[in-house]
Amino acid sequence: MQIIDGKELARIIRSNLKEEVEQLKEKGIQPKLAVIMVGDDKASKVYVRNKSKACEEIGILYEEYLLEETTTMDELLSLINKLNEDETINGILVQSPLPKGLDANVAFRTISPKKDVDGFNPINVGKLSLNQDCFVSCTPYGIIKMLESKNIEIEGKHAVIIGRSNIVGKPLIQCLLNKNATVTVCHSKTQNLGEITKTADILVAAIGKPKFVTEDMVKDNAVVIDVGINRTDEGKLVGDVDFENVSKKASYITPVPGGVGPMTVAMLMVNVVKAAKNNM
Ligand code: GUN
Repeated sequence: MQIIDGKELARIIRSNLKEEVEQLKEKGIQPKLAVIMVGDDKASKVYVRNKSKACEEIGILYEEYLLEETTTMDELLSLINKLNEDETINGILVQSPLPKGLDANVAFRTISPKKDVDGFNPINVGKLSLNQDCFVSCTPYGIIKMLESKNIEIEGKHAVIIGRSNIVGKPLIQCLLNKNATVTVCHSKTQNLGEITKTADILVAAIGKPKFVTEDMVKDNAVVIDVGINRTDEGKLVGDVDFENVSKKASYITPVPGGVGPMTVAMLMVNVVKAAKNNM
Protein backbone atom coordinates (compact mmCIF):
# COMPACT_ATOMS: atom_id res chain seq x y z
CA MET A 1 0.00 0.00 0.00
CA GLN A 2 1.24 3.45 -0.90
CA ILE A 3 0.03 6.72 0.55
CA ILE A 4 -0.60 9.52 -1.94
CA ASP A 5 0.92 12.46 -0.10
CA GLY A 6 -1.23 15.43 -1.14
CA LYS A 7 0.62 17.78 1.17
CA GLU A 8 3.96 17.10 -0.53
CA LEU A 9 2.51 17.16 -4.05
CA ALA A 10 0.76 20.47 -3.27
CA ARG A 11 4.07 21.87 -1.97
CA ILE A 12 5.80 20.99 -5.26
CA ILE A 13 2.96 22.54 -7.30
CA ARG A 14 3.11 25.75 -5.23
CA SER A 15 6.88 25.90 -5.58
CA ASN A 16 6.66 25.58 -9.39
CA LEU A 17 3.93 28.24 -9.46
CA LYS A 18 6.10 30.59 -7.43
CA GLU A 19 8.78 30.43 -10.14
CA GLU A 20 6.18 30.89 -12.86
CA VAL A 21 4.70 33.93 -11.10
CA GLU A 22 8.17 35.47 -10.81
CA GLN A 23 8.59 35.12 -14.58
CA LEU A 24 5.13 36.57 -15.21
CA LYS A 25 5.97 39.56 -13.04
CA GLU A 26 9.03 40.22 -15.21
CA LYS A 27 6.61 40.48 -18.13
CA GLY A 28 4.45 42.91 -16.16
CA ILE A 29 1.76 40.39 -15.23
CA GLN A 30 0.70 40.28 -11.60
CA PRO A 31 -1.86 37.54 -10.76
CA LYS A 32 -4.47 38.66 -8.25
CA LEU A 33 -7.26 36.78 -6.48
CA ALA A 34 -10.31 38.33 -4.81
CA VAL A 35 -12.09 36.21 -2.18
CA ILE A 36 -15.56 37.08 -0.91
CA MET A 37 -16.78 35.56 2.34
CA VAL A 38 -20.21 36.33 3.81
CA GLY A 39 -20.86 35.72 7.51
CA ASP A 40 -18.47 33.80 9.73
CA ASP A 41 -18.77 30.09 9.05
CA LYS A 42 -15.99 28.50 11.10
CA ALA A 43 -14.76 25.97 8.53
CA SER A 44 -14.89 28.59 5.74
CA LYS A 45 -12.61 30.86 7.77
CA VAL A 46 -9.98 28.09 7.90
CA TYR A 47 -10.28 27.41 4.15
CA VAL A 48 -10.05 31.11 3.29
CA ARG A 49 -7.01 31.51 5.52
CA ASN A 50 -5.31 28.58 3.73
CA LYS A 51 -6.04 30.21 0.37
CA SER A 52 -4.58 33.56 1.48
CA LYS A 53 -1.44 31.86 2.84
CA ALA A 54 -0.93 30.01 -0.45
CA CYS A 55 -1.28 33.28 -2.41
CA GLU A 56 1.27 34.96 -0.18
CA GLU A 57 3.75 32.10 -0.58
CA ILE A 58 3.45 32.07 -4.38
CA GLY A 59 3.40 35.85 -4.90
CA ILE A 60 -0.23 36.12 -5.99
CA LEU A 61 -1.87 39.34 -4.81
CA TYR A 62 -4.81 38.66 -2.53
CA GLU A 63 -7.84 40.78 -1.65
CA GLU A 64 -10.41 39.65 0.89
CA TYR A 65 -13.97 40.95 1.19
CA LEU A 66 -15.56 39.97 4.49
CA LEU A 67 -19.25 40.80 4.33
CA GLU A 68 -21.76 40.88 7.17
CA GLU A 69 -24.15 37.97 7.68
CA THR A 70 -26.98 40.44 6.87
CA THR A 71 -25.63 41.26 3.38
CA THR A 72 -28.35 41.22 0.71
CA MET A 73 -28.15 39.41 -2.63
CA ASP A 74 -28.10 42.79 -4.41
CA GLU A 75 -25.10 43.92 -2.37
CA LEU A 76 -23.26 40.67 -3.04
CA LEU A 77 -23.97 40.78 -6.77
CA SER A 78 -22.93 44.40 -7.07
CA LEU A 79 -19.58 43.58 -5.41
CA ILE A 80 -19.07 40.64 -7.82
CA ASN A 81 -19.91 42.90 -10.77
CA LYS A 82 -17.45 45.53 -9.55
CA LEU A 83 -14.71 42.87 -9.29
CA ASN A 84 -15.65 41.50 -12.75
CA GLU A 85 -14.90 44.94 -14.17
CA ASP A 86 -11.68 45.48 -12.21
CA GLU A 87 -8.89 44.70 -14.70
CA THR A 88 -6.30 44.19 -11.97
CA ILE A 89 -8.21 41.15 -10.68
CA ASN A 90 -7.82 37.79 -12.47
CA GLY A 91 -9.70 35.46 -10.17
CA ILE A 92 -12.88 35.82 -8.09
CA LEU A 93 -14.11 33.30 -5.55
CA VAL A 94 -17.24 33.37 -3.39
CA GLN A 95 -16.69 31.05 -0.44
CA SER A 96 -19.60 28.71 0.17
CA PRO A 97 -21.74 28.03 2.10
CA LEU A 98 -23.45 31.42 2.08
CA PRO A 99 -25.78 32.42 4.95
CA LYS A 100 -29.47 31.47 4.62
CA GLY A 101 -31.32 33.69 2.17
CA LEU A 102 -28.36 34.12 -0.19
CA ASP A 103 -28.26 31.97 -3.33
CA ALA A 104 -24.77 30.64 -4.06
CA ASN A 105 -25.78 29.51 -7.56
CA VAL A 106 -26.77 33.07 -8.49
CA ALA A 107 -23.47 34.34 -7.07
CA PHE A 108 -21.45 31.73 -9.00
CA ARG A 109 -23.14 32.46 -12.31
CA THR A 110 -22.54 36.20 -11.84
CA ILE A 111 -18.77 35.72 -11.63
CA SER A 112 -17.29 36.28 -15.10
CA PRO A 113 -16.42 32.86 -16.61
CA LYS A 114 -12.95 34.30 -17.33
CA LYS A 115 -12.38 34.96 -13.62
CA ASP A 116 -14.22 31.91 -12.30
CA VAL A 117 -11.19 30.15 -10.74
CA ASP A 118 -13.48 27.78 -8.77
CA GLY A 119 -15.01 26.51 -12.03
CA PHE A 120 -18.55 26.91 -10.65
CA ASN A 121 -20.02 29.20 -13.34
CA PRO A 122 -22.37 27.18 -15.60
CA ILE A 123 -20.23 28.16 -18.61
CA ASN A 124 -17.21 26.39 -17.12
CA VAL A 125 -19.35 23.49 -15.87
CA GLY A 126 -20.70 23.07 -19.42
CA LYS A 127 -17.27 23.35 -21.03
CA LEU A 128 -15.92 20.68 -18.68
CA SER A 129 -18.73 18.36 -19.73
CA LEU A 130 -17.80 19.00 -23.38
CA ASN A 131 -14.11 18.35 -22.58
CA GLN A 132 -13.18 21.89 -23.64
CA ASP A 133 -10.52 24.14 -22.12
CA CYS A 134 -12.02 25.73 -18.98
CA PHE A 135 -11.55 26.34 -15.28
CA VAL A 136 -11.91 22.96 -13.60
CA SER A 137 -13.33 22.82 -10.09
CA CYS A 138 -10.33 22.59 -7.75
CA THR A 139 -11.02 19.40 -5.76
CA PRO A 140 -11.72 17.15 -8.79
CA TYR A 141 -8.76 18.75 -10.59
CA GLY A 142 -6.55 17.97 -7.57
CA ILE A 143 -7.76 14.36 -7.46
CA ILE A 144 -6.79 13.83 -11.12
CA LYS A 145 -3.33 15.34 -10.41
CA MET A 146 -2.90 12.99 -7.45
CA LEU A 147 -3.72 9.94 -9.60
CA GLU A 148 -1.39 11.17 -12.35
CA SER A 149 1.43 11.80 -9.87
CA LYS A 150 1.52 8.05 -9.17
CA ASN A 151 0.98 7.06 -12.83
CA ILE A 152 -2.27 5.38 -11.82
CA GLU A 153 -4.12 4.32 -14.95
CA ILE A 154 -7.58 5.91 -15.30
CA GLU A 155 -8.49 4.84 -18.83
CA GLY A 156 -10.77 1.81 -18.86
CA LYS A 157 -10.91 1.60 -15.07
CA HIS A 158 -14.12 1.53 -13.07
CA ALA A 159 -14.25 4.68 -10.96
CA VAL A 160 -16.96 4.85 -8.31
CA ILE A 161 -17.73 8.22 -6.75
CA ILE A 162 -19.77 8.33 -3.55
CA GLY A 163 -21.34 11.80 -3.43
CA ARG A 164 -22.96 13.96 -6.11
CA SER A 165 -22.29 17.52 -4.93
CA ASN A 166 -21.93 20.32 -7.46
CA ILE A 167 -18.48 21.10 -6.03
CA VAL A 168 -16.91 17.61 -6.02
CA GLY A 169 -18.98 14.63 -7.20
CA LYS A 170 -20.51 16.02 -10.37
CA PRO A 171 -17.43 17.74 -11.83
CA LEU A 172 -15.36 14.67 -10.92
CA ILE A 173 -17.67 12.54 -13.11
CA GLN A 174 -16.66 14.69 -16.09
CA CYS A 175 -12.96 14.75 -15.18
CA LEU A 176 -12.82 10.96 -14.97
CA LEU A 177 -14.94 10.49 -18.12
CA ASN A 178 -12.62 12.85 -19.99
CA LYS A 179 -9.82 10.46 -18.99
CA ASN A 180 -11.85 7.51 -20.34
CA ALA A 181 -12.80 5.89 -17.05
CA THR A 182 -16.09 4.02 -16.65
CA VAL A 183 -17.82 6.11 -14.00
CA THR A 184 -20.50 5.17 -11.49
CA VAL A 185 -21.98 7.70 -9.07
CA CYS A 186 -23.49 6.61 -5.76
CA HIS A 187 -25.41 8.82 -3.34
CA SER A 188 -27.73 8.75 -0.35
CA LYS A 189 -30.52 7.02 -2.29
CA THR A 190 -28.31 4.34 -3.85
CA GLN A 191 -29.32 0.77 -3.09
CA ASN A 192 -26.72 -1.90 -2.39
CA LEU A 193 -24.02 0.76 -2.15
CA GLY A 194 -21.41 -1.64 -0.78
CA GLU A 195 -21.92 -4.05 -3.70
CA ILE A 196 -21.19 -1.25 -6.14
CA THR A 197 -18.19 0.23 -4.29
CA LYS A 198 -16.68 -3.28 -4.15
CA THR A 199 -16.38 -3.24 -7.94
CA ALA A 200 -14.38 0.01 -7.98
CA ASP A 201 -10.80 0.15 -9.23
CA ILE A 202 -10.78 3.78 -8.13
CA LEU A 203 -13.08 4.66 -5.22
CA VAL A 204 -13.70 8.29 -4.29
CA ALA A 205 -15.46 9.10 -1.02
CA ALA A 206 -17.05 12.56 -0.92
CA ILE A 207 -20.01 12.11 1.41
CA GLY A 208 -19.13 14.08 4.52
CA LYS A 209 -19.67 11.21 6.96
CA PRO A 210 -16.75 10.16 9.18
CA LYS A 211 -15.29 6.71 8.40
CA PHE A 212 -18.28 5.88 6.14
CA VAL A 213 -16.22 3.65 3.83
CA THR A 214 -15.27 0.44 5.61
CA GLU A 215 -12.96 -2.34 4.43
CA ASP A 216 -15.82 -4.64 3.40
CA MET A 217 -16.88 -2.01 0.82
CA VAL A 218 -13.49 -1.98 -0.93
CA LYS A 219 -11.97 -4.32 -3.51
CA ASP A 220 -8.45 -5.65 -2.94
CA ASN A 221 -5.84 -3.29 -4.42
CA ALA A 222 -8.34 -0.50 -5.10
CA VAL A 223 -7.16 3.11 -5.25
CA VAL A 224 -9.02 4.99 -2.50
CA ILE A 225 -9.38 8.77 -2.55
CA ASP A 226 -10.82 10.39 0.58
CA VAL A 227 -12.34 13.85 0.10
CA GLY A 228 -13.96 14.02 3.55
CA ILE A 229 -12.92 16.48 6.22
CA ASN A 230 -14.89 15.70 9.38
CA ARG A 231 -14.10 16.97 12.84
CA THR A 232 -14.67 14.51 15.68
CA ASP A 233 -15.98 15.55 19.12
CA GLU A 234 -12.36 15.49 20.30
CA GLY A 235 -11.43 17.98 17.58
CA LYS A 236 -9.53 15.46 15.45
CA LEU A 237 -9.84 15.54 11.64
CA VAL A 238 -11.03 12.31 10.04
CA GLY A 239 -11.97 11.48 6.47
CA ASP A 240 -14.93 9.64 4.97
CA VAL A 241 -12.82 6.47 4.88
CA ASP A 242 -11.89 4.19 7.78
CA PHE A 243 -8.21 4.70 6.95
CA GLU A 244 -6.77 2.24 9.46
CA ASN A 245 -8.64 -0.77 8.04
CA VAL A 246 -9.16 0.26 4.40
CA SER A 247 -5.45 1.06 3.96
CA LYS A 248 -4.67 -2.65 4.54
CA LYS A 249 -6.62 -3.50 1.38
CA ALA A 250 -5.92 -0.55 -0.91
CA SER A 251 -3.04 -0.25 -3.38
CA TYR A 252 -3.03 3.53 -2.93
CA ILE A 253 -4.87 5.69 -0.44
CA THR A 254 -4.99 9.38 0.44
CA PRO A 255 -4.71 10.43 4.09
CA VAL A 256 -6.81 12.99 5.99
CA PRO A 257 -5.39 15.48 6.77
CA GLY A 258 -2.63 15.89 4.20
CA GLY A 259 -4.40 14.37 1.19
CA VAL A 260 -7.01 16.01 -1.02
CA GLY A 261 -7.35 19.18 1.13
CA PRO A 262 -3.98 20.79 0.33
CA MET A 263 -4.39 19.79 -3.33
CA THR A 264 -7.66 21.74 -3.58
CA VAL A 265 -5.86 24.92 -2.53
CA ALA A 266 -2.90 24.23 -4.84
CA MET A 267 -5.20 23.76 -7.84
CA LEU A 268 -6.97 27.03 -7.03
CA MET A 269 -3.56 28.69 -7.30
CA VAL A 270 -2.99 26.92 -10.66
CA ASN A 271 -6.32 28.35 -11.84
CA VAL A 272 -5.48 31.90 -10.73
CA VAL A 273 -2.19 31.77 -12.63
CA LYS A 274 -4.03 30.35 -15.67
CA ALA A 275 -6.53 33.24 -15.46
CA ALA A 276 -3.66 35.74 -15.40
CA LYS A 277 -1.99 34.07 -18.41
CA ASN A 278 -5.29 33.98 -20.34
CA ASN A 279 -5.29 37.77 -20.09
CA MET A 280 -1.82 38.15 -21.67
N1 GUN B 1 -16.81 25.59 0.03
C1 GUN B 1 -16.30 24.35 0.17
N2 GUN B 1 -15.39 24.12 -0.79
C2 GUN B 1 -15.32 25.22 -1.54
C3 GUN B 1 -14.56 25.57 -2.69
O1 GUN B 1 -13.75 24.82 -3.24
N3 GUN B 1 -14.77 26.82 -3.17
C4 GUN B 1 -15.67 27.66 -2.62
N4 GUN B 1 -15.81 28.86 -3.18
N5 GUN B 1 -16.39 27.37 -1.57
C5 GUN B 1 -16.20 26.16 -1.05
